[in-house]
Amino acid sequence: MAQRFQFLKRKRYALPIGLLLIIGAGLAGLAALRNGGSGPGPAANSGDGGDAAAITSDVHFYGQSPPVYPSPNMTGAGPWADAFSKARALVANMTLSEKISLTGGTSSNTSCPGFVGAIPRLNFTGLCLADAGNGVRGTDFVSSWPSGIHVGASWNRALTHQRGQGMGGEFRTKGVNVLLGPVVGPAGRVVLSGRNWEGFSVDPYLAGALVFETVQAVQAVGVMTSTKHFIGNEQETNRNPSTSSGVTTEAVSSNIDDKTMHELYLWPFQDAVRAGTGTVMCSYNRVNNSYGCANSNLLNGLLKTELGFQGFVVTDWGAQHAGVATALAGLDMAMPNPDPFWGSHLAAAIGNGSVPGSRLDDMATRVIAAWYRMGQDKNYPASGIGMAPDLLKPHAIVDARNSTFRSTLLDGAIEGHVLVKNIRGALPLKTPRMLSLFGYSAKNPDHNSPSAIAWKFGAESFSVSDLLAGFMGPGTVGTVTVGINGTLYSGGGSGAPSQSLMVSPFDALVQQAYDDGTALFWDFTSAKPSVNPASDTCLVFGNAFATEGSDRPAARDDYTDGLIRHVADQCNNTIVVLHNAGIRLVDQFVDHANVTALVFAHLPGEASGKALAALLYGRANPSGRLPYTVARNESDYRALNPDLPAGDFARFPQSNFSEGVLVDYRHFAARNITPRYEFGFGLSYTTFNYSNLSVDKAVSLNSTTNNTQLFAPYPSGAVREGGPEDLYDTLVRVSADVTNTGGVAGAEVAQLYVRLPSYSGVPQLRGFDKPFLNALQTATVRFELTRRDLSVWDTAAQQWRLLPGRYAMAVGRSCRDTPLVGEVVIP
Ligand code: BGC
Repeated sequence: MAQRFQFLKRKRYALPIGLLLIIGAGLAGLAALRNGGSGPGPAANSGDGGDAAAITSDVHFYGQSPPVYPSPNMTGAGPWADAFSKARALVANMTLSEKISLTGGTSSNTSCPGFVGAIPRLNFTGLCLADAGNGVRGTDFVSSWPSGIHVGASWNRALTHQRGQGMGGEFRTKGVNVLLGPVVGPAGRVVLSGRNWEGFSVDPYLAGALVFETVQAVQAVGVMTSTKHFIGNEQETNRNPSTSSGVTTEAVSSNIDDKTMHELYLWPFQDAVRAGTGTVMCSYNRVNNSYGCANSNLLNGLLKTELGFQGFVVTDWGAQHAGVATALAGLDMAMPNPDPFWGSHLAAAIGNGSVPGSRLDDMATRVIAAWYRMGQDKNYPASGIGMAPDLLKPHAIVDARNSTFRSTLLDGAIEGHVLVKNIRGALPLKTPRMLSLFGYSAKNPDHNSPSAIAWKFGAESFSVSDLLAGFMGPGTVGTVTVGINGTLYSGGGSGAPSQSLMVSPFDALVQQAYDDGTALFWDFTSAKPSVNPASDTCLVFGNAFATEGSDRPAARDDYTDGLIRHVADQCNNTIVVLHNAGIRLVDQFVDHANVTALVFAHLPGEASGKALAALLYGRANPSGRLPYTVARNESDYRALNPDLPAGDFARFPQSNFSEGVLVDYRHFAARNITPRYEFGFGLSYTTFNYSNLSVDKAVSLNSTTNNTQLFAPYPSGAVREGGPEDLYDTLVRVSADVTNTGGVAGAEVAQLYVRLPSYSGVPQLRGFDKPFLNALQTATVRFELTRRDLSVWDTAAQQWRLLPGRYAMAVGRSCRDTPLVGEVVIP
């Protein structure tokens, strides 16, 4: 962190938690957690305060996160075999200090936020680790890609794959070895969490499908992904420990029971591991009161044993708070540097036997194997070659953009827009005579200058002081809801791609109006602007800002809602466009009789305005669908705000995930709450009809597996990356016909929801497909349900379990609109 903000003093985080405190966690905890069923995590009870006196020591939490030791060595299973044997051979020739150098960052003459030094003697060329999941950050000549939430709203696997290829290629050209993304944690449990926009969706199946495509595509061009943040990083407030007047407040603990962990939070990480992610980044927060990067249950247990992860675990920046304990818990690399826990201290720990030498060999082998596996030992651009340390000084031009992917940038921007209201034929626009434009978010911010910290962290529309308020410290609840200085291309923080060239909505609308001879009026600063009554249409642009380091203060804002109502009072065809870095409530204005259309425009990246104009004028047909639920009221959500330090736990903030898997639409279904716009919902300029559902049990095609084995309660296959290999056997096939019954071509997102026997009232997304259909065309959509898709986590057996019973299958347009319903019975 200090490396990124050299002008600021390093914030002193809490001192290490003693080794014994971590590994001394008792077996009682293991039993409590593993047999805990679907109830709250072990600290849920204690976290509620009550009888206990104020907690001043970590001892109180012993046993809440089960100890899992020793750390499993990499095995080289599956596609890693070759890389593994080469890595072993190379590591066998390394000195102790060479191995140690692979386990922590060092300084470099680049802007890579993390850098592992080369070992020229052995032809190891070093590693540049750079942000982010949405494009290269902090340099020039790169593209600003649509952010995670926008990709989630596209529900498009193929397009997500193309984005990964295009984005990955840019990292490669810039000499970045490790892309610090994609993000599947936060998942989005806390509605106002500051980083939800970096991830794809609160639904684990949707996030899992899209992270799988991203990891495969990025790594296919030779760049390692660092899937992050592992795990339970669901709020920014108290994400890090902090010390004030000598008193340390530890990072928030996400208290997650074993079942919820598997069925929700671990799920997309499992897909990333299955896709072969080369690294996983452990998170700032604690999980069941043990730090993410020192938690043996998470790293040794879930990741390296259960999921068979072969790559290396890197810390989030500054997330290491112990030395020996993190080594034994399965951490492999400390960033941005090994201070103050590893480096010479790790050498000493190896020397005195506190850490076995084999653990260091495994760390080094995992790092080198990932490097070989991506082919970075051959013809890879020099580490950090395109990452100039200071863009204001003369530097070599390394243009990473690739014109082949311009259409992907535009399609990606188009498909993440979600149209949720469109009455009286408001859209598409038909060569209007006069348009009036309002709102701070129509235009570009006033600066796009690489000299500014704001530029490096995607905060040009927002203020640096607000960005830094939470970023450098423990994490806070923010104070601003909107980026008042202009439209948003991404959210803020380390997840922001560099803004090189952007097309704002205003830019694109001026161009369009010029071509069409449309008169344009605009006012982007007044709260109560005047409207020319001759306007055919008024467009109001607002946004909802979010950034790393702070949680959002609110899910709506009175300023923007007042502006919309003021315009709508004077203009009977008012179209609202919100660039929202997270869930934005709309009930203060959406039922106004003159609000004729509403678009959630999310975070489209540099092609923003071009994409919006294509949609508004009908050159593109909206096909985005909400990857989250928009409620009518804040109180409809289970977890709106972050948890704050409180009561006896003021020094050990607790966040109890006691709702289990019932987040977002599952919570709305379980509680029978009607949302404003449900998960999966979105309008098109055409209509689609569903017919011909078929649901069939699969027949074993494998001569060694009969049908009884295929439907056996537990998987029995060997563990590969992503878990037992037969967890991915197809057990049920579902298909349906989708027909475009309207007048124009468009894409439909057909969705399959399953009601598992143990969650009978609650739909869970288990399939989606997005056919593009000409008018009157029909396509058959097919969904293959794997054993994992139909199983629940059995905490006693520590296995995925296929329950006997009826599985309702519903196919349709959203989680609440499923015209086709069938079922399958598992004996
Ligand atoms: C963020 C990570 C990021 C890292 C390096 C941290 O503050 O949490 O997501 O990759 O910095 O910039």
